[in-house]
Amino acid sequence: MNRKKVSIMGAGKVGSTTAQLLSYMDICDVVLWNRTADYAKGVALDIKESSPIQGFDSGISGTGSFSDIKGSDVVVLTAGAPRKEGMSREDLLNVNAEVVKSICTQIKKYAPDSKLIVLTNPLDSMVYLAKRITGFPKERIVGMAGILDSARFRSFIAEELRVSVRSIHAMVLGGHGDFMVPLPRHANVNGVPVESLVEGSVLKKIIERTRAGGGEIIKLEKESSAFYAPASSLATMVEAIVKDKREVLPCAAYLNGEYGIKGIFIGVPVILGSNGVERIIELELTKYEKKQLDQSAQKVKELANEVENVLLKK
Ligand code: LAC
Repeated sequence: MNRKKVSIMGAGKVGSTTAQLLSYMDICDVVLWNRTADYAKGVALDIKESSPIQGFDSGISGTGSFSDIKGSDVVVLTAGAPRKEGMSREDLLNVNAEVVKSICTQIKKYAPDSKLIVLTNPLDSMVYLAKRITGFPKERIVGMAGILDSARFRSFIAEELRVSVRSIHAMVLGGHGDFMVPLPRHANVNGVPVESLVEGSVLKKIIERTRAGGGEIIKLEKESSAFYAPASSLATMVEAIVKDKREVLPCAAYLNGEYGIKGIFIGVPVILGSNGVERIIELELTKYEKKQLDQSAQKVKELANEVENVLLKK
């Protein structure tokens, strides 16, 4: 079988939904790993049984053994506790650092040549921790957040203008948190600047809603956080890699001086292809945009320092 192999670590809502989407896309074989093996096996079986209806031939299996991720082209890390109401993404750091540490040790052992996509929150620090544990080169490790934040931004703009979401292009950079940096100046409707179509005060509200997008869903669902849009974002990243699409997507990438930032993962536009992060695209930013990105980077750096403290403790 020549299909690419994608392993998803964690069969929670995001992991399971990503497995379902990738299966429906019929682009790779999927291994769904979970701490409770039977749960992953059940989810995988359920998805597999939809194959005659959906018409996909790619394989899907569930497992609790790390050795089953051997030979993965892509590994997606979703395991960890989700945010609950009143919790910041940062509150999760200590809880999820342990999970990410133990799973990344196994990824390094069993899938040392894979491309690793991290989703676990707080995203910017968990992807940093994943790099510290796996030691993967920066091209092969990337965090999911920008696509989700940008999708929220785009869907709110589309709703306001009553046009197809497909016509809306917009990007959100920076950390995945309250300091994310939506770029209204770059938002456009098939080339027409959004700023010329949407009133300033309305656009400001859309930006605020985008920033609080994750929280808005937690407030409604109470015990859960978003998973459909995060899973769609992950599936898009996996597709870009397994099909070598070289798609330009905002992702958390490790910066080595780009945008004047060094040594952290933060959301920037990248070209995503079969080697992972093929290139980081540097946009020209205004003074104000740069200041916002620097503020966001400062927050992310503080979290990275906390990760270093967690690592020191062991
Ligand atoms: C969100 C969570 C997953 O933004 O961080 O919905």
